[in-house]
Amino acid sequence: MTVRITFHGHACFSIESAAARLLFDPYLTGNAMADVKPEDVQADYILISHAHHDHLGDAVPIARRTGAAVVSNAEIARYMTEQGLQAYGWHVGGARQFPFGKVKLTIAHHGSTFADGRDGGTACGFLIWLEDKVIYFAGDTALTVDMTLYSAEHIDVAMLPIGDYFTMGPEDAVRAVQFLQPKSALLMHYNTSALIAQDAQAVAAHIAIATTARPVILKPGESMTP
Ligand code: NI
Ligand code: MN
Repeated sequence: MTVRITFHGHACFSIESAAARLLFDPYLTGNAMADVKPEDVQADYILISHAHHDHLGDAVPIARRTGAAVVSNAEIARYMTEQGLQAYGWHVGGARQFPFGKVKLTIAHHGSTFADGRDGGTACGFLIWLEDKVIYFAGDTALTVDMTLYSAEHIDVAMLPIGDYFTMGPEDAVRAVQFLQPKSALLMHYNTSALIAQDAQAVAAHIAIATTARPVILKPGESMTP
């Protein structure tokens, strides 16, 4: 089976491979772009980049219904364990091998407080080795020079926020693509609220001119293969 990435709006994606179905940052309730309901989405693992509501989202009910295991930082994993859910949590810089592949938590310059004010640990992104593909999910982050290090992993697809305000904006996203040198740059975290309204087509055009990557814009419900 080829790896397939499906967008659900904001920073929510499904990635299907032969071994597992991964769901990223399952913000569906309240996500103006969501194409799927939390009671219908399928997952074996739910990867959560940080505790903000637009990333933690519907993770608890989805994990409870599907039996999916949560993968995140140690604090969010502890929170999930307290809810009676299966969770794997560790820290930025470390990696863990799963039956489907390897997951490394990467640096994300961002907050991670839960809605109730409790500490959500350190925000992260993910580097994922899945079948013969390398996927980088940046999470919510500022542009960081650490991205130049990740280029050594020969990334097939980099999922990058372009919304500005809460994360890097269009110009820094183009620089991130220059740093990461992925084969494809998949845009996320825009147009779900007025504060992060962006012209994704213009960002894609800039990426096409300024980098060697293939820019990818998915409408919610659309998929790509790396
Ligand atoms: Ni956030
Ligand atoms: Mn966010």
